[in-house]
Amino acid sequence: MTPSEISGLFPKASKLALVTDSNVDRLHGDRVAREIESSGIRTDRIVIPAGEASKSLENHARLVSSFAALEMTRSDAVVALGGGVVGDLAGFAASTYMRGIGFVQIPTTLLAMVDSSIGGKTGVDIPEGKNLVGAFHLPAAIIRDCGFLETLPEKELMNGYAEMIKTAVLFDPELFEAMKCRPAGSTLAAAVERCAELKSQVVADDFRESGRRMLLNLGHTFGHAIEKVSEFAVPHGEAVAMGMRIVSKDVPEIGAMLDAYGFGTLESAGLSGRKSEILESMAHDKKRSGDSVTLIVPRAVGDCRMMSVPISELGEWL
Ligand SMILES: NC(=O)c1ccc[n+]([C@@H]2O[C@H](COP(=O)([O-])OP(=O)(O)OC[C@H]3O[C@@H](n4cnc5c(N)ncnc54)[C@H](O)[C@@H]3O)[C@@H](O)[C@H]2O)c1
Repeated sequence: MTPSEISGLFPKASKLALVTDSNVDRLHGDRVAREIESSGIRTDRIVIPAGEASKSLENHARLVSSFAALEMTRSDAVVALGGGVVGDLAGFAASTYMRGIGFVQIPTTLLAMVDSSIGGKTGVDIPEGKNLVGAFHLPAAIIRDCGFLETLPEKELMNGYAEMIKTAVLFDPELFEAMKCRPAGSTLAAAVERCAELKSQVVADDFRESGRRMLLNLGHTFGHAIEKVSEFAVPHGEAVAMGMRIVSKDVPEIGAMLDAYGFGTLESAGLSGRKSEILESMAHDKKRSGDSVTLIVPRAVGDCRMMSVPISELGEWL
C-alpha cells in the first residue's frame, strides 16, 4: 500500500490530519503529504517537536484541539508519520477524538516498523511514568517503506535491531540465521516484513496481553530497569539487548549475535556497580505480580518460556 491509497480506506472522509515530528517533517513531510493529496483528499499537517517529551497529555490536548479546529468529523482520519512517539501520540489522539476515529500508521523508524506501529497500543507518558495513559486502538493500515530508513541515524537503527533480534529469538530460528549478518537492502526489507508478521500474529492471538503477548517482554523486564537506573543514558534498544543477554546465558549464540551487532553489557555501560539499584527498580515494575516477576527465558532460539521468579531471587541472574 502507498500513501496515495490512504483516502480509499476512508471513503466518507473529507479530510485527513497528517501528524508528524519536526525531524521527519523536514526530511519526508512534503513528499508524503503530496502523495496522500494526490488522491484528491485535503490533508492538514500537524508537526510536534521530535523526542519522547512530546508524548505528553499536553500534546494530546493540542492534537485533539487541532482536529476540532479543522472541523474533523467521525468519518475523517489521522495519519501518523514517524517513529513510535508520533505513532503512540497520534494514535491515542485518534482513539479519543469523538470517542475514536480512524488512523493509519506510516512508521519511519525501524523500531516503529517492527514493533510500535503493530498491535494497537497507543498512549502518552505522564510525570509518574511512561505509557501510563493510553488506549488500545488498531490502525486501519500500516504502510511500511524501508526507504525511510536511509535517513535514520545509526543509534535509532540499533533500537530496531534489538527488537528484531528479540522477535527472531522468540519465534523464528530461520530469521535468526538470516540476521546473523546485519541485513541491508532487500534482505532488510524481508526481515522487517517477517518481524512485523510475527508480531501481528502474536497480538492478533492475544489482543489484551494476557498470555502469549507477554513473550514480547523478552529482555524488557531487566531492560526497563537498566534504562531507568541509567537515567535513560542507555537507549531503549541497548537496554533490551542487555536484558536479553542476562536471561539468555544458557544460549550462547544469542550473546554472540548481540556482540556482532555491537550491543554492550552492564560492564561496558558502567553499570556493573549498580546491580542493587537495577533490582530495586525491578521490584517496582508495573508488570510484577505479588512477590514475583515474570521473566521470559530462552531455552533455545525459537523456544522461550515464561518463568515466575521471586523478587528475592532476581539477583542470581545478574
Ligand atoms: N505502542 C507500542 O506498542 C510501542 C512499542 C514499543 C515502543 N513504543 C514507543 O515508541 C517510542 C520510541 O519509538 P522510536 O524509537 O521510533 O522513537 P522516536 O519516535 O522518538 O524516533 C526516534 C528519532 O528518530 C527520528 N526519526 C524518525 N524517523 C526518522 C527517519 N526516517 N529519518 C531520520 N530521523 C527519523 C525522530 O524524529 C526521533 O528523533 C517510545 O515512546 C516507546 O514507548 C511503543
